[in-house]
Amino acid sequence: MTDLSIDLGFMKLKNPVIAASGTFGYGIEFAPFIDLNHLGGFIVKGLYYSSREGNPPPRLVETSSGLINAIGLQGIGVKRFSEEILPCLIDYDTSIIINVCGEHEDEYAAVVDLLNHQPGISAYELNISCPNVKKDGKCPALDPETTYSVVKLVKKSSTRPIITKLSPNVTDITEIAFSAQEAGSDAVSLVNTFLAMAIDPNTRKPKLANILGGLSGPAIKPIALRMVYQAAGRLKIPVIGMGGICTGGDALEFLIAGARAVEIGTANFIDPEATVKIIDELDNFCRERKIGKLETIIGTMK
Ligand SMILES: Cc1cc2nc3c(=O)[nH]c(=O)nc-3n(C[C@H](O)[C@H](O)[C@H](O)COP(=O)(O)O)c2cc1C
Repeated sequence: MTDLSIDLGFMKLKNPVIAASGTFGYGIEFAPFIDLNHLGGFIVKGLYYSSREGNPPPRLVETSSGLINAIGLQGIGVKRFSEEILPCLIDYDTSIIINVCGEHEDEYAAVVDLLNHQPGISAYELNISCPNVKKDGKCPALDPETTYSVVKLVKKSSTRPIITKLSPNVTDITEIAFSAQEAGSDAVSLVNTFLAMAIDPNTRKPKLANILGGLSGPAIKPIALRMVYQAAGRLKIPVIGMGGICTGGDALEFLIAGARAVEIGTANFIDPEATVKIIDELDNFCRERKIGKLETIIGTMK
């Protein structure tokens, strides 16, 4: 029997595979396709205090090996989520993580404050890195000081561990990651999407109504892997890696680079069973090589 479990210090996962925010609905939508109990965890769509419509369509466009989205964090808001969705999730035997959003620092704190009173949540993932909410792609995770300030404030309000989700749209990822750690973040997750765009040459119009969006999927994997490697080399807190992971082999690259867990995003749109297939592939990899504990592979790049 392979032991796929992972200890993040503040949270134990039955395996390192977590479904990424925004690509897995509120979790419950995937219950007809996979057994949610198999997952290491899942992260629900980003939640603000109030409901939001997001950006006008078109807001998704496929590119070579990738997807550009400008959803703009559409959602039902934290109150409705707590009343209508969370009660359907808490009996699953997996880690439920809430992706927390805010227009300003106080809103992040207010969302966390409301969720603190709800049962069944393992951690908060602080989304300070969405590139398609502001027209120019700006977000707190582009700057070490704003990162520090929002993480510090939310950490004070939170009764649960905080995972700070970082943006790849920066020159030095280690500087921002370090800021999150110094502000008290329990872990960081990276990467969110890369600021991107696409144009239809026939109409000369942008393919997204928002013009700019965030690129995800296999196209970003090598750059995401490099950033995870750099962040893991600098930080004491755990790094959760993501960006284009579609197979067990992809997940292993991130673990070997130093990630203690991985998130699976766009792959869920290609195959709703992607997460459980990746878990099976990790298990097979370990069995074939007689690796008794998957955790021993983390950060072992030669
Ligand atoms: C349609 C879509 C919606 C997303 N929504 C969120 C979100 O609500 N919160 C968040 O932190 N990240 C969001 N993301 C980013 C993903 O969680 C992930 O960081 C990114 O897509 C990179 O991983 P991937 O290449 O495996 O998709 C979204 C991504 C996509 C494609």
